[in-house]
Formats: sequence, structure tokens, C-alpha cells
Amino acid sequence: MPRSAPPVPVALRVATALLVAGALALTACDGGVHGTPGGSGLRDPYFPKAGNGGYDVTHYDLDLAYDPDTEKLSGTATLTARATQDLSAFDLDLDGLDVQKVTVGGETARWNRTGQELTVRPPDDLDEGRIFRVTVDYSGTPATLTDPDGSEEGWLPTGTGAVALGEPTGSMAWFPGNHHPSDKASYDLTITVPEGLQAVSNGELTASRTSGGRTTTTWHTAEPMASYVATLAIGDYDVHRTTTPEGLPVHTAVDPAEAEASRKVLARIPAVIAWAEDNFGPYPFSSTGAIVGREGDAGYALETQNRPFFPGAPDIGTLVHELAHQWYGDSVTPKTWRDMWLNEGFATYAEWLWDEDHGGDSAQETFDALYDHGEDDYEDLWSFPPGKPSSAAHISDSPVYQRGAMVLHQIRRRLGDTAFFALLRDWPTTHRHGTADTEDFTSYVEDLAPDEDFGPVWDDWLYGEGKPARPGP
Ligand code: TRP
Ligand code: ZN
Repeated sequence: MPRSAPPVPVALRVATALLVAGALALTACDGGVHGTPGGSGLRDPYFPKAGNGGYDVTHYDLDLAYDPDTEKLSGTATLTARATQDLSAFDLDLDGLDVQKVTVGGETARWNRTGQELTVRPPDDLDEGRIFRVTVDYSGTPATLTDPDGSEEGWLPTGTGAVALGEPTGSMAWFPGNHHPSDKASYDLTITVPEGLQAVSNGELTASRTSGGRTTTTWHTAEPMASYVATLAIGDYDVHRTTTPEGLPVHTAVDPAEAEASRKVLARIPAVIAWAEDNFGPYPFSSTGAIVGREGDAGYALETQNRPFFPGAPDIGTLVHELAHQWYGDSVTPKTWRDMWLNEGFATYAEWLWDEDHGGDSAQETFDALYDHGEDDYEDLWSFPPGKPSSAAHISDSPVYQRGAMVLHQIRRRLGDTAFFALLRDWPTTHRHGTADTEDFTSYVEDLAPDEDFGPVWDDWLYGEGKPARPGP
């Protein structure tokens, strides 16, 4: 017998080489095979599929074109993101539309779609901490989505154009992203529409030019923005640009049919901002304004960042509500949809304070009237506690709005006015451009007055089922 080993069949030799190469790749951790998929949702208690695991978006660059005649949207979304784990694949949320191409780091990536999940498989794994860029070329007719509560959001075609509204999950109807409030990012949006139409979005207008019968407008949002308050309104709007006496740019876009009815109330924007700054601290963004569509354009107003959207001329209470959201909701954003009362309780309480400061009922009177006969106007007022909505279908119901404001009033009663008004300013300052949840808030309040017992406020008003006992005088 020769001392050399018997010849190894070729097939076996190749297999062994592959195994060795595989083992090396597994241990090398150099962009080889080591990552896992990021996950298709963030396990939000109300919208478990919203958002995605494994990465954080830092910037969205949307380059889009829309034709109102065909209702076709097309373009490219470029997301800059940071991997928060070793990733073999990750998801974006996108509902409807057709995807033509996806790249990661400039290289074509494989992708597939199931429901609202667009799963992207980059050619190489992405190491934790890696900053990467993903582009999605897409087109189609964006969908109007129906929320669990029956309201319509997403992409809403109007008489002359369309408006995009995204609370809670409608933004996935018009751009791919990490559509959960916990992941905020800066934005650039470039939108091309037929000449003669306006295209209005968040942030500041940085460029606009018309050629070949089409107008291309660019909007820049430097401050972090949750995707549910991103907007795009395309239509035949009257556009006005001014500044407040303090120098804050005010940019309004008003449907001509609502121009007359809107004039007086929109002229109060600088006064509302000044009043709100006195009460809530410095305005958190670099411009303000409003978008006023027609009544049929949407079923509700929305606190879209910088400039809220109103379906028809708002009354002063609604204007105050949506502008107050710029502090409570847009700057301090809920970590999950369970924390929605932090948005709506504060924005509703802002309306009470406005009344109190402008010759109307005091907040105490508003509270008392709600306690005594709130069911007359808000049938479901006592049907669940603000801190724990009964289901996704109820996150925009009166227990979140009116009873949420009642929680704040109970805190005011315990803290006294000096500490309470400090809280109204300091809370949005502490979490400026960030996110917070209900526990962050309750522990923040407790730290303000360590000797005070807030147990009954939390147990009865914030988390308790049914109508709480009448508070003492
Ligand atoms: N959050 C909006 C506001 O308070 C209202 C809103 C948005 C809404 N989406 C909704 C109300 C869906 C009912 C249903 O200004
Ligand atoms: Zn609101």
C-alpha cells in the first residue's frame, strides 16, 4: 500500500472546500454570513407591524412626481439608516405601489413583498453600527387607507390634487420607511407636479423651478420628524409667506374656496404661537404655517409638522389644538401608540388654557362640566382609561382627548399653578425632538414633587376603568 491517502472523489473534495470556506465566513464576522433579519415590526401594542427592527433611519430623501389626472405617483426614496444589529435582511413598510428596483450601498439588492412589508436582502450583511443607504424606485396609484376606527388616511385625492396624511400608519401608502413614531428622521422632499399647481410639505421651501410645463419644488425638514406627521399637499392653493414679529417664517397654503373663511383665523397664527411660547416654551421648529384644504379632503385636522392640515377653515380652538401639537406630539413624540394621550391630552388642555386666558371658561370649569355631564357630548368618555386605550380602533376617542386633559388638570391641582406651568414648559424642553412614553411622563411628574402622592391620579384617572370618584374641592 502506498503511504499516501487514497484519492478523494472530486465531488467530496469540492464539498469539503465549501464547508471550510463556510466555516471561515461564519467565524470571520467581516461582512460575511453572520447577520439575522431585522424583524417585520416593533411590536407596538396597537400596531404591531408598524415600523421594523434592526435599524434606525436618520434621513429620508424623497424625489417624487405626481400627476393628479392619472393619480400616479413615481419616484425614488433614499433612506440613510444605521444598523442596530448585524443584519442579513431588513424590512421597510410600504402599502401598495409597485417597486421597480432596490439598492443598498449602491448595489442592487434582492427584495420581496408580503402585505405592508418590503423585505430587502442586501448583497452583503450589514454590521451593527454601519451607516447604510437604501434606495427604492417605485410608482403607482397610492392607496387611501382605512384605519381601524374607520377614518381615511394615507393618500387622499382631492378636487385638484391630493393630500397625504399619516396618523397612525398612512405614510406607508406614499413612501417606504420605518413607519413608527419611535424612529424620527430629517427629510428632503422634491416633488414635481404639473405647472400651475402648488406642492406644500413640512419644513422650509428650499427650491422651486418650472420648466417644460412641470414645477419641481424642494422642501427641507432639518428637525427630526416622525413619519406620521410628514405631509405632502398638492393642489391649487393660495400660498402666502410672512414672518411673525419674532422672525419665525409663516407659510400658509389655502384652497381658494376656503380663502375668505380662513383669513381671520390664519392671521392669528403669530398670536397663537406667541401665547403658546409663553406657556410651553420656545417653538420647536424653524417655521410654521397651515395648509387649509376643502372640507371633503379629510375627515379631521392633523398636526402635520410645521404646518398642520385643516379640512376647511379651522376655528380658533382647532388652530390652537394643532399648533400645541407642535410641542406635544411633533417635538415630543410618543414612543408607542399607547402613549397617544400624551399628544391629545396636552393639545386638548391647550384649548382649555386658551379659553381660560381669553375670557372663556377656566380649565376648572371645563373640567367640572365634563365631569358632570361630559357624556352628553362624548358618549364614550368613561369607556376606557387614557393610558390604556381599549384597542387600535379607539386611540383617537374622547377618553384619550378629553379624559387625557382631565388627567393633566388633576396633576395641576396637586402641583399648584407655578409647578404645573413649569411642567408644561420643561417637559417639552427635556424631550425636545425626541420621544417619550407614559412612564417617562409619570416619573417626571413624581420627581417634581416627591412629597406629593400621585397614586390616585395614575390609578383612577390615567389607568382606572370607569368614571373616577369626584375629586375633592
Ligand atoms: N390627531 C388629530 C388631531 O388631534 C386627529 C386625527 C388624526 C384623527 N387621525 C384621526 C381623529 C383619525 C379621528 C380619527 O388633531
Ligand atoms: Zn390632536
